[in-house]
Amino acid sequence: MEKYIENLIKKAKEARKKAYAPYSGFKVGSAALTDNGKIFTGCNIENVSLGLSICAERVAIFNAISKGYKSFKAIAIICDTEKPCSPCGACRQAMIEFSPEMNVIMCNFQKKYIIKKAKDLIPDAFNNENKNNTRSFLQNR
Ligand code: THU
Repeated sequence: MEKYIENLIKKAKEARKKAYAPYSGFKVGSAALTDNGKIFTGCNIENVSLGLSICAERVAIFNAISKGYKSFKAIAIICDTEKPCSPCGACRQAMIEFSPEMNVIMCNFQKKYIIKKAKDLIPDAFNNENKNNTRSFLQNR
């Protein structure tokens, strides 16, 4: 296993300890590595108003963004499941907003992991081109 991957998984596992998941009981940790080598972590945070809950991946990414880092090399996600943890659609969309090329390291406690590029996890995603098309659609009505 490449050193940076091992380190990122370790950081994600550490962040998972802070997960607030009293409703699902499903704890997730994440660690995002910026292009310039900084690591920002996140855990899932649930709410009694369930729709307000947020995934670990977005917390890690938004944590980085809020500190001024927008470009990512990789993100690790860890949960205690047989199959490595796969990010939800909303998190995939959030990933490609900033770094479509980033490596998404999906991992479990047995250190079994799968790596895919963020852009490959969300083919035909909504993007700026779609957005601009929406604008011209509205103008041409
Ligand atoms: N969750 C994550 O944090 N990341 C994922 O990749 C999948 C799901 C969280 C959301 C919710 O708090 C709990 O796991 C159960 O869905």
